[in-house]
Amino acid sequence: MKNIVLIGMMGSGKSSVGKALAQKLQRPFIDTDALIEQRESKSIQEIFELYGENYFRKLEQDVVRELAVYDNHVISTGGGMVMNQQNVDSLKLHGKLFYLRNGVEELEARLGSARDNRPLLGAGKELRDTLQRLLDQRESVYIASADTVIENQDLEETVMRIAALADCDKEDPA
Ligand code: S3P
Repeated sequence: MKNIVLIGMMGSGKSSVGKALAQKLQRPFIDTDALIEQRESKSIQEIFELYGENYFRKLEQDVVRELAVYDNHVISTGGGMVMNQQNVDSLKLHGKLFYLRNGVEELEARLGSARDNRPLLGAGKELRDTLQRLLDQRESVYIASADTVIENQDLEETVMRIAALADCDKEDPA
């Protein structure tokens, strides 16, 4: 079975949806940010502060290259992952990509106090403007990269819809 790969903005709930999906489908779950933090023994915030964004993007690319040979996993990615086309190509080798799509207001509401450890949002910055700018830059890439766009209003419903699609996929193991 192909991997189920979740893409989308910070605050779209990729990690929560990914964990619930993995449990429901009895598949292993990987969160690329968590894997990077574990390997570096540092938080994403610390990696950005100490080494900068380019270094983090290199770590992301390394992780995704490794994951490209996996099958049958649920993989949740960082919000900037698909801005590098090589990452998209690697993820698509053995995976179907689902874009969890939200508007800025929903993302802002979800992020709330979870802005910590998200260095691109910055503690003192205006959250909505930053989210809007990132979404403007990324929306077309998320859509172009995705095999399926999921209008992501309710996390439980999102889990059910992706699980149903993954079930249909059993007929087509390619
Ligand atoms: C980022 C999103 C974060 C994390 C890093 C950069 C981004 O992941 O990878 O802070 O560029 O959008 P989440 O989308 O899981 O918050």
